[in-house]
This record gives sequence, C-alpha cells and structure tokens, in this order.
Amino acid sequence: MLPQKIIPVGLCGHATLLAVSLLGLVEQTVGQTLTIYYAPGQTPLANGSISTATPTAYDDSLQAYNTATLVEPTPPGPTAMPTAFSLVVPSAVPVGASIQHSGSFFGFSIEMSVVNQVLGKNSSLIQVPFLNLMANLQQRTGRINIRVGGNTQETATLVDSTPDGKILEKDLQAVFGTTNTPPLIFTPDLIQMMRNISDFVNVHWFLGVPFNDTNWRLGIVEAGQAILGDFLIGMQAGNEPDLYSTHGRRPATYNQDDYFNEFGSLIQALEADSNVNASKLLIAPSVSTDWTPESVLFAGTGFIPTYGANLDAIAVEHYPFDNCGVAFPSSLDPVINPQDVLGIYLSHGSALSIVGPYLNTSNIAQTNGFPFYMFETNTASCGGFPGLSDAFGAALWGLDYGMQMAAVNFTTALFHIGGQNVTYNAFTPPPTNESTFHQWSVGPIYYSALVVAEAIGASNTSQIVDLAANNNNTLTPAYGIWENGALARVLLINFANDPTGASTLQVDLSMSGGTLPSQVDVKMLLANSVTQKGNFTWAGQTFGGNFESDGRPIGTDNTAQTTCGVPTDGSSTTPVCRITVPAPGAALVFLAGTAAADDVAGGPSTTFSTSSVTKVVNAATVPPAVLETSNGHGGNGTFQMLQLGSTSQGSFKSTGIQGRTLGVWTALGGAIAAVILLAVRAP
Ligand SMILES: *[C@@H]1O[C@H](CO)[C@@H](O)[C@H](O)[C@H]1NC(C)=O
Ligand SMILES: *[C@@H]1O[C@H](CO)[C@@H](O)[C@H](O)[C@H]1NC(C)=O
Ligand SMILES: *[C@@H]1O[C@H](CO)[C@@H](O)[C@H](O)[C@H]1NC(C)=O
Ligand SMILES: *[C@@H]1O[C@H](CO)[C@@H](O)[C@H](O)[C@H]1NC(C)=O
Ligand SMILES: *[C@@H]1O[C@H](CO)[C@@H](O)[C@H](O)[C@H]1NC(C)=O
Ligand SMILES: *[C@@H]1O[C@H](CO)[C@@H](O)[C@H](O)[C@H]1NC(C)=O
Ligand SMILES: *[C@@H]1O[C@H](CO)[C@@H](O)[C@H](O)[C@H]1NC(C)=O
Ligand SMILES: *[C@@H]1O[C@H](CO)[C@@H](O)[C@H](O)[C@H]1NC(C)=O
Ligand SMILES: *[C@@H]1O[C@H](CO)[C@@H](O)[C@H](O)[C@H]1NC(C)=O
Ligand SMILES: *[C@@H]1O[C@H](CO)[C@@H](O)[C@H](O)[C@H]1NC(C)=O
Ligand SMILES: *[C@@H]1O[C@H](CO)[C@@H](O)[C@H](O)[C@H]1NC(C)=O
Ligand SMILES: *[C@@H]1O[C@H](CO)[C@@H](O)[C@H](O)[C@H]1NC(C)=O
Repeated sequence: MLPQKIIPVGLCGHATLLAVSLLGLVEQTVGQTLTIYYAPGQTPLANGSISTATPTAYDDSLQAYNTATLVEPTPPGPTAMPTAFSLVVPSAVPVGASIQHSGSFFGFSIEMSVVNQVLGKNSSLIQVPFLNLMANLQQRTGRINIRVGGNTQETATLVDSTPDGKILEKDLQAVFGTTNTPPLIFTPDLIQMMRNISDFVNVHWFLGVPFNDTNWRLGIVEAGQAILGDFLIGMQAGNEPDLYSTHGRRPATYNQDDYFNEFGSLIQALEADSNVNASKLLIAPSVSTDWTPESVLFAGTGFIPTYGANLDAIAVEHYPFDNCGVAFPSSLDPVINPQDVLGIYLSHGSALSIVGPYLNTSNIAQTNGFPFYMFETNTASCGGFPGLSDAFGAALWGLDYGMQMAAVNFTTALFHIGGQNVTYNAFTPPPTNESTFHQWSVGPIYYSALVVAEAIGASNTSQIVDLAANNNNTLTPAYGIWENGALARVLLINFANDPTGASTLQVDLSMSGGTLPSQVDVKMLLANSVTQKGNFTWAGQTFGGNFESDGRPIGTDNTAQTTCGVPTDGSSTTPVCRITVPAPGAALVFLAGTAAADDVAGGPSTTFSTSSVTKVVNAATVPPAVLETSNGHGGNGTFQMLQLGSTSQGSFKSTGIQGRTLGVWTALGGAIAAVILLAVRAP
C-alpha cells in the first residue's frame, strides 16, 4: 500500500480535501472547515504518513445514495384541498383517544446483517454518528427502542469467535431463498456492543430467535438475556412466517397451525434451557401480507390462551408496496415506477389503509393486556423506491403514518434500516471503504422520527387523536396530543406540493373547554418540494445531504412564536392561533409549555463531539460556527464520562484520547478545533 501524507495546514477558513489514488485525482471541495479524526493505531507517523489508502469516489451503484429525483406533483387546487380552515380541538381528552404512549413509540429495526456497519465494528468501536442520532431522540423522549433482526436473523448462528475476529460474518456463497439472504454467524461481542451502546444512550433492544428450522439454536436468547439484561425487551420468534413457504423456507403446505405448533416446540426448548428465562419473552406472530394476525391468533388452541405466559407482545410487519420487481427481476412482481405511486404516499389515505386491517388486532392485544408492535415497516420492501423513499415526501408520509399508528393503539413502530443498497434508511453510514472521506447520510424517516418524538414527548402519558381536519381532507391530516389529560400539542401536515405558495395552509386553531395561550411556539418540518433529497429542515436545523452528517443537527433552531387572539379580519369572534403550513410541510404547535422545554423533556441535550472510526480519517464537513449553535453543543450528561477531547476552540490533539471504556476515538472534542488537513497520497 502506498504511503499517505497528512499535512495540517492551518486554522479555520475554506478547505479542499485532496485525495489522490491510483485511479487519479479527485478533488472534493468542501467549502467548510474539516475536522479529521484518526483511528487508534492509525495516527499519523512523525513523518506524516499513515498506512491506509484513501479511497476516492463513492460507489453510486448503491441504492442508498442513488441520485434519482422524481417529477414534482402538480398542486391539488382549492377544490381538492381548501387551504383555509378552522380546527377546534378540545382541551380535555376526547372519547376514542389512543392509549397513553411512551415517548419511545417511534423506533428502528436494523437488519441483522448490517449492524456491524450501523452500530459499530465491535463493543469497543461504536459508531459515534449513531450515538448522536440516538441522543437527539433521547433528549426528546428519554428512550429509544431498536430491533436487531429481519430476514437475516433466521439463519443466524451464535459462535464463540470468527476466524478473522469480526463480530459478524456473512456466508455469501450460501445465499438462500428469494430474498437472497446470506446465513450469518456472529459472536457474543455483537450483543456486548448493543449493551455498551445502552450505557451511552438509553436504547432498549429487541432480538430474534432463528426460526429457519426447529432444531432450535437458543444461543442468541441465552447471550441476549445474559448480556443485555433489562435492556432486552423481547425476542421475536418467527419473522413473517406467512412468507416462509413463498421464500422456500417451509413446504408449500405450511400453515398457521404449523407455525402454532412450532411456536409451542420453541417454548418447550426455552423452558428446558436453564440459561433462559422464557417468561413474557416472545414476540409473535409478525405476519405481513399472506396471513391475517387473527388467523394465527386463533389457530390451534388459541395463541394467547396457550402461549400468553411466554408472550411479550403481539406484532405485525407491513410495507405498503414492494420494489421486488426491480430487486429480483426474475420474480413475478411487476416493476413499479416510483413516479406512479408517489401520490399514494402523499395522502393520509396511505396511513389509514395500512392501519385499517389491524384495528381489530390492536383491540385484541389491548384487551388481553399485550403491547402491539409494528415490528418492521417502511415505504416499500425489496429496497424501497429511488426518488420516493429517500425524498421529503417520505418524511411527511412517515410522520403521518407514525402518528396514525399511535392514534390507533399500536404501542411501538419500528422503521427498518437495510444497509447500503436500500433507499428507505432513516440513516446510513458510508460504505466502509469510504468512511475516510464521507460522513453519514440522514434520510427522511429520521426526520419523521424526530418530529414524532417531539409530538409525543417524554411524559409517557401522551394520547393521540386523528382530528379528521379540514373536513377529513386526505392532503391535510392533523393530530391532537394530550398529555396528563390536557391538550398539549397539535400537529398539522400539508402533503401538497406547490412552489407558488397558493397551497399554503392557513389553519385557525382554537380550543374548546379551555383557554388558548396568548402565544404558541411553532416548529416546522420543511423542504422546497416533496421530491427534494437531503437538506430537509426541522425548526431550521438539518442533517444535510448524503454523506454530510455526523449525527448532530446543523444550524440554528428557528422555532417561531405565533400570537393567538381574535383575528382582526373579523373571520372569527373567538381567539384563534392562525398557523400557516407551507406546501409541502408540517407544523407542530405547542399549546402547552414551550418547544425548548419539549426538546429536552427526555433528558439533557448530549452529543458526541467526535467520530468513530473504521478507517484512517473521518472528515466532518461541519462549520465550527454552526456547531456552536447546534443542539447540545459541548456535550453533557453521560457523555462527559467519555473524556472528550478539549472543547476549547482552536485546540488540536494530534493523537486524541481513548474513550473511558469505549474505544471511541476523540481527536477534536467539540469538533470546533478548526484544523484543516490536506490528505495527499503520493503516487
Ligand atoms: C514514515 O515512517 C514510517 C515508519 O517509520 C516508514 O515506514 C515510512 O516509509 C515513512 N514514510 C515516508 C513517506 O517517509
Ligand atoms: C468501495 O467498494 C465498492 C464495492 O466493492 C466499489 O464499487 C467502490 O468503488 C469502492 N469505493 C472506493 C472509493 O474504493
Ligand atoms: C475491536 O476492533 C478493533 C480494531 O479491529 C480491535 O483493536 C479491538 O480489539 C476490537 N475490540 C474487541 C472488543 O474485540
Ligand atoms: C438453518 O440455518 C442454519 C445456520 O445457517 C443451518 O445450519 C441449517 O442447515 C438451516 N436449516 C435449514 C432447514 O435450512
Ligand atoms: C423472568 O422474566 C420475567 C418477565 O420479564 C420477570 O418478571 C421475572 O422476574 C424473571 N425471572 C427471573 C428469575 O429472572
Ligand atoms: C443494489 O440493488 C440494485 C437494484 O436492486 C442491484 O441492481 C444491484 O446489483 C445491487 N448492488 C449491490 C452491491 O448489491
Ligand atoms: C376480531 O377479533 C375478534 C376477537 O376479538 C374475532 O372474534 C373476530 O373474528 C375478529 N375479526 C376479524 C375480521 O378478524
Ligand atoms: C385505543 O384505545 C383506547 C383506550 O382503550 C380506546 O378508547 C380507543 O377506541 C382505541 N382506538 C382504536 C382505534 O381502537
Ligand atoms: C375520515 O375518513 C376516513 C376514511 O375515509 C373515515 O374512516 C373516517 O370515518 C372519516 N372521519 C370523519 C370524522 O369523517
Ligand atoms: C444542501 O445544501 C448545501 C448548502 O446549501 C448544498 O451545497 C448542497 O448541494 C445541498 N444538498 C442537497 C442534497 O440538496
Ligand atoms: C448539563 O446538564 C445538567 C442537567 O443534567 C445542567 O444542570 C447543566 O446546566 C448542563 N450543563 C451544560 C453545560 O449544559
Ligand atoms: C464495552 O465492552 C467491553 C467488552 O468488550 C467491556 O469490557 C467494556 O467495559 C464495555 N464498555 C462500556 C463503556 O461499558
């Protein structure tokens, strides 16, 4: 490997990162200050060289970074969508409101095969952008729920160690079934990594028992309970068993009774394992399209009556569409043009049609005292739709869908993350061979998570109602959120796309049975169009475009204050808060308390002002002036234990500090030390 030269060139100002490789010279103009971090053992030598190659361009065949942009839909016009309407919301909780929700309602599902990219390399090398992304949510909600699993959990096997020391290995030669799922082996350190993450951000975890055959491999249950303890919420047993026969994992005759019997066999094995506590452990039936949940719940002698003592929760999985026609061209699925289905996602009808078939199941779960999980979901399975799943419209869709699930008593909703070759990820690390010059990409679903986090808040008493606003118009859904029995917030969504401004909503919000405050805080989720990719803003803050985020929001919070009162135009004789919602956009209106307080209702604002390292250097393209005003600048709370590097401006630690117990490597605490490096690999 050729030597690489790292030359510190100065403080502040604009920088250019030059990376020369065998393929030629690539110049990346950053226009911002770079902060460069080195991995342990990869710090520059005295002569300025390091031993690892710097790659050049990104692999644009990977769907997570596709550049497809759809054509913007035409504005709906005033007949289809009246823009001015009043919305009267009761101060007390109305009949039909949801159950009380935990702030951790909106969580994530991470495909098991990609955890070593998303969470970290091992228990001592954790991805700091991931920690920052979770910390943003934790400060709003107090806790985040994440499932590690998916199709790849089914053939996964726990081993003591792998030949090359990695925590996870894929056997790509033994790809199986129509989802091309490679079998996995993983070590207990994968679970230790999850446990270590929970020391820094309050993440609680779901795992899954491999269900590819009934020769039960219980290692993940034993290790999961031993290592994660109370941070393990439950274990899924069977991931989409209704698709097992389609995917070639069971005979064509496989039915609900077969699954019921296998579930019983698993419970017997768990009960017989002295290293397992099988009480209230399992999550089922996790069906998606082919079986209704009821058909499983009422199979055999009845799922709940028979297995209730071992059940943690009732779960389903659902994607409203699939893109399998593109991902697996040999399959029978037709190829869907994302442009043709865009309008379906930009409508409240999408959320309503997804939850509709589950209302009965939701009642069954509640009646029997079980939580009800949407265990895996997103815009479209088989990778999502380029230009749709990764554009602003998906943020509004995820927001409406998330709130709708909460309104109809799902207790947790987990949005799936599938790695480099899917378009719907809430966040995506750079390809590992590019982590030296690229940051993470934060997708639309992460913004949905952030807004739902603030809408529901951290009180664990939030009750949600779909307000059927604007005469139930499908383009303008709205939700009321009651906390401790009193109206706290209203969320307004505008699905229309109209650059002329003619479709901007003007909502006269008022309260029945209570007194409107004289002024309310309003936070906006915005982008220029529903097809825009990257650079969405939530109250003015953004995570940038592809490869631009270290997990911290950038920019100044621009929460607005709107004065409420009797309108001077005579349109109402009672006080209203007149809220405008651009097309497209969403507005969260704080009718009690302030946005600033809600922002940290789950805990103090905390950030990692560093970057985890899987490679030589990481370039954070974040201007220092911006960071100083960003949320949680400087770090606080638990993260102070990490012995972050100096936070004083201009300081530079060339060797960095090993985190207390994490091997997270912190070269430039506060990320404001303005050191610009020219990385030149001499031919
Ligand atoms: C820098 O030093 C290392 C180790 O001392 C050596 O292997 C390497 O060749 C040197 N690089 C240059 C460019 O002199
Ligand atoms: C990263 O790896 C992928 C897949 O092997 C390759 O296509 C891409 O060119 C690599 N990127 C760089 C910068 O080497
Ligand atoms: C994690 O990986 C790093 C780099 O490969 C290695 O130095 C470290 O020992 C590993 N930690 C564990 C706990 O395996
Ligand atoms: C289930 O997966 C394990 C691990 O990959 C494998 O050894 C076993 O043969 C699989 N069972 C079936 C029936 O394919
Ligand atoms: C087993 O798990 C249940 C449910 O989480 C818990 O209530 C119980 O205390 C556990 N039992 C033991 C022996 O740890
Ligand atoms: C990514 O997905 C596309 C389309 O589904 C496929 O053509 C391509 O081969 C995949 N690339 C990788 C590296 O898996
Ligand atoms: C709804 O649930 C009830 C039990 O609560 C069940 O009897 C009924 O068959 C279910 N309806 C449907 C359509 O599945
Ligand atoms: C949600 O649960 C609450 C409390 O039991 C109930 O009043 C409401 O009708 C339920 N909503 C739906 C859609 O089932
Ligand atoms: C709103 O529309 C949905 C779907 O058409 C319907 O189920 C619901 O009853 C309507 N609500 C009101 C208040 O009209
Ligand atoms: C995001 O905004 C920055 C700064 O305005 C701009 O350079 C970049 O091209 C934008 N990215 C996208 C994906 O729009
Ligand atoms: C850190 O958080 C504590 C509350 O946990 C707060 O009292 C303190 O002011 C915070 N410090 C900074 C620098 O934000
Ligand atoms: C992380 O995991 C290692 C085991 O690999 C453990 O020794 C260490 O204490 C853990 N770190 C933290 C911060 O819990």
